[in-house]
Amino acid sequence: MATIDTPGRGTWNSKLGFILAAAGSAVGLGNIWGFPTQVADNGGAAFILVYLVCCILVGLPVMIAEITIGRKTGKNPVGAFKALDSSGFGAIIGYWGVICGMMILAFYLVISGWTIAYVFEEILKYTGNMTGAAWFGDLANGPKNAIFTIIFMLFTVGIINGGVSNGIERATKILMPFLLFILIVMIGYVFTLEGSADGVREYLMPDFSLIDIDLTLSAMGQAFFSLSLGMGALITYGSYLKKNQNIMESAAYVTVFDIFIAFIAGMLVIPAMYVALSQGIAIFGEDGDLISSVSLVFTVLPQLFENMGGFLGLFVSVSFFLLLGLAALTSSISLLEVPVSYVIDEHKIPRKKASLIVGGIVLFFALIISFDIGLIDVFVNIFNEIGLPLGGMMTCIFLGWVWKSSNALLEIDNGFPGASESNFGKVWAFFIQYICPVLIGIVFVTTVLNIIR
Ligand code: TRP
Repeated sequence: MATIDTPGRGTWNSKLGFILAAAGSAVGLGNIWGFPTQVADNGGAAFILVYLVCCILVGLPVMIAEITIGRKTGKNPVGAFKALDSSGFGAIIGYWGVICGMMILAFYLVISGWTIAYVFEEILKYTGNMTGAAWFGDLANGPKNAIFTIIFMLFTVGIINGGVSNGIERATKILMPFLLFILIVMIGYVFTLEGSADGVREYLMPDFSLIDIDLTLSAMGQAFFSLSLGMGALITYGSYLKKNQNIMESAAYVTVFDIFIAFIAGMLVIPAMYVALSQGIAIFGEDGDLISSVSLVFTVLPQLFENMGGFLGLFVSVSFFLLLGLAALTSSISLLEVPVSYVIDEHKIPRKKASLIVGGIVLFFALIISFDIGLIDVFVNIFNEIGLPLGGMMTCIFLGWVWKSSNALLEIDNGFPGASESNFGKVWAFFIQYICPVLIGIVFVTTVLNIIR
């Protein structure tokens, strides 16, 4: 048993353990549900370009910053900022992260619950029980949503209760490649179908005229969400990191892997929509844009599975929703771990009790959302698109100007000797002090001006 546990905070088992856990946190609904939906919503390949820029220029430096703060202090986000800033002012960033994490988890649970429902739906459809399949497949608002939300919450709390042990480290090692495999099988199949070429074109040919401030804000929010940044998840995971691990290298692996999985998922969903179109299914809304509701992935893909037919259809569909659910689980635990580690560390409450208290509060909000899924968009706007980049910006300003990047670089030197003298180190420090906060700031100010106008 290793890793997240108190007292005597543990460490990850191996070098790979941290990378897998951080990748497990990063790869989730954000990649397979969020990214394709955003691409559809924002006009295809233009969004991908801006997204890539946000991930590399802002996401990666912020990820390195968070891990470094975590490892230096060995604390939860609130404790970590307190430890680095005696004025106590920095702790606000930590508190903001705890709140954002809980609110993001609330809607995350609702969507994650759908993955469970769809596993049943696909099995029942295969056995010919259409009434049963329809019950699981039609997740209208209300009690049905609530049931699956609660089930998913129980899984999440269960894992956090026991500490994130070897189980998760080992499971991600097998599950991630399998997820990739299933995605590639599905893409291969979609590409044989009529209409997919149009989708690939839409996905890969950017129309630069579509790039505007709304698109940029969405891309920035999506980058923070997908990489699990801006609320201290990686401060927390970094606090369990050994001193001999190269932070910059690990962060780069996680970032590249996360971008790759999102890209592959879009390569499946967007062409699949165009295949659906050529089969006479409506994929454009009344405004002429691609439909991109929160349920996009959950409506387009089952149609595809149905067309695959037979046992192949069953195998691929069940594997897909199962893996999507598991990918969501390795993400939801990282969202819950932040407020839980805060309650454990700062209020000296034992882990089990802490996860029940925090879990209960989050569940309250999750249940409200499950009865009105229109609220998902509202939560995404406030806590994801604005909340996370805001947290990231404050983290950069804090690290660059209060704690000072020279001190951070000394911490990075552990596991990466000479980092502070290297060009990597200097470029990173420049990004954290100037580029990242300014870029995020510009996006914010322009957005606000747009709203006021
Ligand atoms: N990155 C996850 C996803 O793409 C979601 C997530 C997990 C997250 N932990 C987070 C988002 C922390 C923001 C902050 O599905």
